[in-house]
Amino acid sequence: MSGRRRLVIAVDGPAGAGKSTVAKRVAERLGLDYLDSGAMYRALAWKALKRGIDLRDEDQLTALLAKTSIVLDSDPQGRPRIRVDGQEVGEALRSPEVNAAVSLVAGFARVRAEMVARQREMAAAGGVVMDGRDIGTNVLPNADLKFFLTASLRARAERRWRELRDQGFAVDLETVAEEIAHRDQLDAGRAVGPLRQAPDAILIDTTDSDIETVVEELLRYCRPRVCRS
Ligand code: CDP
Repeated sequence: MSGRRRLVIAVDGPAGAGKSTVAKRVAERLGLDYLDSGAMYRALAWKALKRGIDLRDEDQLTALLAKTSIVLDSDPQGRPRIRVDGQEVGEALRSPEVNAAVSLVAGFARVRAEMVARQREMAAAGGVVMDGRDIGTNVLPNADLKFFLTASLRARAERRWRELRDQGFAVDLETVAEEIAHRDQLDAGRAVGPLRQAPDAILIDTTDSDIETVVEELLRYCRPRVCRS
């Protein structure tokens, strides 16, 4: 840690705005840990689907989460890794089935309370970039830097469609656009932990920028903090 203050960075925004790729690269470049809070909600949705649990049943979902270990770390090559009950789960968490289920699961107050407690614990020592929907507003309101990444629905749908196609899922662009628009609506409209820009977050529109340009923009804000600390 070399005496450097352990920076905490929050990155929020809607689906497909580029949060996870950008947050991952910023973390790498600054030597911080990357924590994907969305992967935790996805992990619960994935396990609930596997067990055939009713996704509208908050009691069952809360009980399932209490018995579920979710570990975010990196593999020996330094790539972010997620383990659910000791089992490494990768692309399964980004399947169309999980995409369709995750916002439902994430809408329950008791599920969120437990997830938020775990996320704060993971970030307690600092030195993290965490991405999600409510990180700057709720999970880490005292973060040193907050970013809110956004982009047009079209751009976000195209990115997500390409990602799914590269993973071998046969989906069409219109379906992907509808799915993310629906998820945005659920995420922004829910009573607990809604998708919202924190008043002190820096807004970055990524519609016409490639990932590396966005990464550089975030780093410009981060570097003075890293140097000063
Ligand atoms: O990668 P993408 O932006 O599509 O989604 P994600 O970050 O993996 O998050 C998946 C879903 O988890 C979101 O649509 C939200 O419903 C939920 N989520 C949340 O409620 N709060 C967070 N801090 C992160 C994700």
